[in-house]
Amino acid sequence: MAGDSKFPENFLWGTATSATQVEGHVVNEWTDYVAADGGNCRVACDHYHRYAEDVDWMTRLGVNAYRMGIEWSRLQAAPFAPLNRTELDRYVHLLDCLKAVGITPMVVLHHFSNPPWITSAGGWLNPSAVPAFVDYVTKLVSALKDRVYLWNTFNEPDTYASLTYLLGGFPPFHKWRFASYRKVIRHMAEAHAQAGRVIQRDSGGVKTPEVGIAKNWTSFGAFQTFALWDHFLAAISHHAFNRFVLNEFLGGRRRDASTFLGVNYYGRARLNHFQALVPTNGVSTERLKQLGITCDDMFERHPAGFARLLKRFHRSYGLPIYITEHGAASTDEDFRIRDLMAHLHELRAAMDGGVDVRGFFYWSLLDNFEWQFGYSKKFGLLSVDFSDDKLPRKMTRVGEFYRNVCTTRTMDQGAPPGGRPPSPSVCRRV
Ligand code: BGC
Repeated sequence: MAGDSKFPENFLWGTATSATQVEGHVVNEWTDYVAADGGNCRVACDHYHRYAEDVDWMTRLGVNAYRMGIEWSRLQAAPFAPLNRTELDRYVHLLDCLKAVGITPMVVLHHFSNPPWITSAGGWLNPSAVPAFVDYVTKLVSALKDRVYLWNTFNEPDTYASLTYLLGGFPPFHKWRFASYRKVIRHMAEAHAQAGRVIQRDSGGVKTPEVGIAKNWTSFGAFQTFALWDHFLAAISHHAFNRFVLNEFLGGRRRDASTFLGVNYYGRARLNHFQALVPTNGVSTERLKQLGITCDDMFERHPAGFARLLKRFHRSYGLPIYITEHGAASTDEDFRIRDLMAHLHELRAAMDGGVDVRGFFYWSLLDNFEWQFGYSKKFGLLSVDFSDDKLPRKMTRVGEFYRNVCTTRTMDQGAPPGGRPPSPSVCRRV
């Protein structure tokens, strides 16, 4: 049966985090933000101090790749400034820890946060963000080119631009500013084009450099077949969040700036009388259940759309694909395991159908700071007890399931327990 064969030997099985969500001790536009549950990102998972322990955990998970953020605000104190040596050394050390245990890093350069001097100059509405970002990337690539070959410039530019200027969810919390949304996307697309060329030119250390964005994919539809107005709104949403964004980043000559396409896939949003039927829109789980809609704590799940989407991207762009994020937020671990299994089967089917997918990064390594929702969403392969100052990590059953997948390259449950043995702690910081 399609979907039961082994994944390729060189497939990257990874997990992902972002700096603001796990590191703690960041100074960016999120520092003073208080989330719906009263939480803030000031300490988060304290990955900033505990990355060596977290790398140990990654070896226990059996992953061979880690998609990680590098926080721009730590490294540049002003536009065009030299990189901060101490902070850079810390990231270098983390990369060396990963290397010592055979884990390939994918570095994300922008994940929903900016240095304060970018924010105070108007953020990505100001075209001067473009040369500033390209300068930062040029310096960072030159510093890390021997350690990193996989670069992800922007994480979900569509999510970032819509939550900052359309939906009011992210700082600076503006609503319905369509012109600003488009401007931010255009500036980020230009920054990606220029940074992508720099990466391809300068990052030739060990392996051929690879660069791409991570596109969030939500498919929009009408819940009721004959609700024309909902179909209309779905078509507009699809245009604004998917087509427009992909055209800006990958249309025409811009395509040459990317060597891969990253795909973040969580599910879909169906509209009913202009209302998206998803938990993040305040629709109760009971109501969604009554309507027969399967959700995690955030979105409707739609595994069947996953293989279709991958085939479509393959046809449209012909670029290799990394699944840069997929995961589910729930305290029901059986649900999360079923969700993961269903999506991996779809992934396998797409690959069997000829789609060149090179890796899968589970979101997330740790329960973490989920932006507006604080610590209430449980995405981790490792759970984190935020009520305990020591922030203890614990393997979840989803983590165990994923370890079996990573170590056997199949979805079989007969996999050996234990995964790879924990590494010797070669990367303890002195
Ligand atoms: C983002 C992550 C976020 C995850 C779950 C993605 O859109 O890149 O930062 O935590 O979804 O909501």
